[in-house]
Amino acid sequence: MSVVKVVRVLRKDNVDVCKMTEKSFRWGDYINDVFDDWVKNGVFLKAVENDKIVGIIHVKVFKDFVWFEGLRVHKDYRRKGIGRLLTTKAMEISDGKTIRLLIHEHNKPSMALSTSLGFRQIDKIYYHSGREREFSKVVETLKLKKVKVDLQKGYMDGWTWHPKEHYKNPVYSGIFRGKRIVALETKPLFLIEGSMGSMAYVSHNKDAGSGFIVFELDKSKHNVQNTKL
Ligand SMILES: CC(C)(COP(=O)(O)OP(=O)(O)OC[C@H]1O[C@@H](n2cnc3c(N)ncnc32)[C@H](O)[C@@H]1OP(=O)(O)O)[C@@H](O)C(=O)NCCC(=O)NCCS
Repeated sequence: MSVVKVVRVLRKDNVDVCKMTEKSFRWGDYINDVFDDWVKNGVFLKAVENDKIVGIIHVKVFKDFVWFEGLRVHKDYRRKGIGRLLTTKAMEISDGKTIRLLIHEHNKPSMALSTSLGFRQIDKIYYHSGREREFSKVVETLKLKKVKVDLQKGYMDGWTWHPKEHYKNPVYSGIFRGKRIVALETKPLFLIEGSMGSMAYVSHNKDAGSGFIVFELDKSKHNVQNTKL
């Protein structure tokens, strides 16, 4: 393998990045939908070999942690250390001390990579696919009421895991098909109790849906050097 550089993704990389990622998973990929936002916000990195984009990763920056997402390596360039290089570089340029990411429970390559770098499981959530509904519509239709409830240690919002202390909106409760639900105002909504049939939601409930593992690494406890891009 010749030299692989890691540099920022530019707006003009749109077509190449979307082409490289369009078949990442059986269902395709979502990078096309977020590309413009990722170029503008956070740190969007690409691995380049001989002028060809062979991998990407995006870092979202929050007040007290950074969130790694969208790690992809071109299928013809896998198992050559590019995924590790991109993740390590993202770790080095991240200022926050806590780094978190999410991996589908059956994604063995990605899990092996993250655990080998020192990431450890802190939570497991389930995504129940279905129709996405406006939160306000759900509140109105089910006549949900604001309640006071102690949250468990974390929740998902916009596909990012947050510690419970981050949640500042009201918690809502009501009855759905004869059973109590307790919901957070997130997108898609996060249920801390109950289920929502065919609607899209995230929860700690295993009853259906796909499991995702939340991983965390405390940078200050690992020997990660700090570099600038
Ligand atoms: C996951 C992915 C990014 C890994 O990229 P990669 O460049 O092939 O990974 P690397 O070569 O840097 O591998 C680093 C380590 O990850 C693990 N790993 C990578 N691929 C693996 C596989 N197919 N099976 C088992 N372990 C694997 C190994 O521990 C490997 O270290 P080793 O080669 O010294 O044994 C790549 O497979 C990919 O793009 N997959 C599709 C998209 C995806 O799943 N992204 C992650 C979403 S969370």
